[in-house]
Amino acid sequence: MMPEEQQKIPGPEQWFAACRTEDVVLNGGVCVKYGDEQIALFYFTRRNEWYATQNLCPHKKQMALSRGMLGTKNEEPKVACPFHKKTFSLVTGECLSGDECDIKTYPVKVEDGIVFIGVNV
Ligand code: FES
Repeated sequence: MMPEEQQKIPGPEQWFAACRTEDVVLNGGVCVKYGDEQIALFYFTRRNEWYATQNLCPHKKQMALSRGMLGTKNEEPKVACPFHKKTFSLVTGECLSGDECDIKTYPVKVEDGIVFIGVNV
């Protein structure tokens, strides 16, 4: 198996190695680039869960969600944009502030201290 093929896992998505687990702040996020896409990667430490969404906040088109604050709404993990505090589900991407501006989410997995994000190819 070629080294490039070892990175690929069969399925509808391709996983890419985003960073090491220690590169992500506790209860916070970082911005990861994949091609032209900016992806916000979050480690929700209290829940020991990883999430990834688009970094672009659809409200005023700010590349800001990776700097958002994590929290929960009725046990649903969410991120609040640092600009105007609109909140989005980290599971579904639904805007929880009552606006019609959902965001894209990505699957995340951790293997041997490396965080992988699943993307459609
Ligand atoms: S730019 Fe994100 S809430 Fe306004």
